[in-house]
Amino acid sequence: MNAVAMDTPAGANPVAGAAAAAAMPPRVASVASANWPQQPRAVAEHLNFYYGDFKALKDINLPVADRRVTALIGPSGCGKSTFLRCFNRMHDLQVGSRYEGSITLYPENINLVARNVDPIEVRMRIGMVFQKANPFPTSIADNVTYGLRLRGMKNRVRLAEALEKALVGAALWDEVKDRLDQSAMALSGGQMQRLCIARALATNPEMVLFDEPTSALDPIATAKIEELIATLRDQVTVLIVTHNMQQAARISDYTAFMYLGELVEYDTAAKIFTNPAKKATEDYITGRYG
Ligand SMILES: Nc1ncnc2c1ncn2[C@@H]1O[C@H](COP(=O)(O)OP(=O)(O)OP(=O)(O)O)[C@@H](O)[C@H]1O
Ligand SMILES: [Mg+2]
Repeated sequence: MNAVAMDTPAGANPVAGAAAAAAMPPRVASVASANWPQQPRAVAEHLNFYYGDFKALKDINLPVADRRVTALIGPSGCGKSTFLRCFNRMHDLQVGSRYEGSITLYPENINLVARNVDPIEVRMRIGMVFQKANPFPTSIADNVTYGLRLRGMKNRVRLAEALEKALVGAALWDEVKDRLDQSAMALSGGQMQRLCIARALATNPEMVLFDEPTSALDPIATAKIEELIATLRDQVTVLIVTHNMQQAARISDYTAFMYLGELVEYDTAAKIFTNPAKKATEDYITGRYG
């Protein structure tokens, strides 16, 4: 573990012991502003992130609204993926990476980037779907039930139920229900991406991170995944990176514009896409930059 994280805030619990604190009301972050959602599921406060000496995230203060879709937009290299990866501690695997500040997960008040919070437990609760579909070279069924089996679920009936539920949820069930034991590698690109979404949903995560999930897909597969994200709204908290402005405007409730490692503007998607406060945001969404 090479990541150095800040201490957990006073009164915070490690993820494993969080249930007792589940009834705590969401705390209002000291950095909150008027346009923030009433119910953030997570809040980054004064978050800095370093790859060795390079500071890739600079004092980010950003809420992620509970059971809503938040989109991260901004030019290539501005730190969108870096920010996303902090939420499920993907950076811990890289030597020399370092977090400062906090990402508080509510209602338990856990600082996700704190050293005493177990990254494996965090990844069970916060799923991730990558730009390039990355199925395991096993069967469709085994891909989806992987996380559940890792958690010790052995009952075949329960596994089969969870498999169907996740595949239905990812809008893939009808296409694969007759070949669940076949290799996932034989699926099309769009099907593989939906399989990865099913795998991410199977453990019932409370938040799902999507890093450009449709950038390699055709318009039909893209539309399916956008519909799927829309149906997740109200059940799961979604944080999504996209380069597609139409997509961000279509699917997000809140949108954050980043530039050179900083958060430039955060607001409702309606405000960002019709009347942004900052000229840099307007230039970016109208295609004058990037
Ligand atoms: N593993 C890494 N090691 C060192 N520097 C990195 C690493 N990953 C990203 N960076 C740097 O951090 C900055 C932010 O990169 P990041 O991948 O977060 O950008 P992004 O906004 O997701 O870009 P894109 O839209 O191209 O995916 C860039 O300057 C990048 O070169
Ligand atoms: Mg990226």
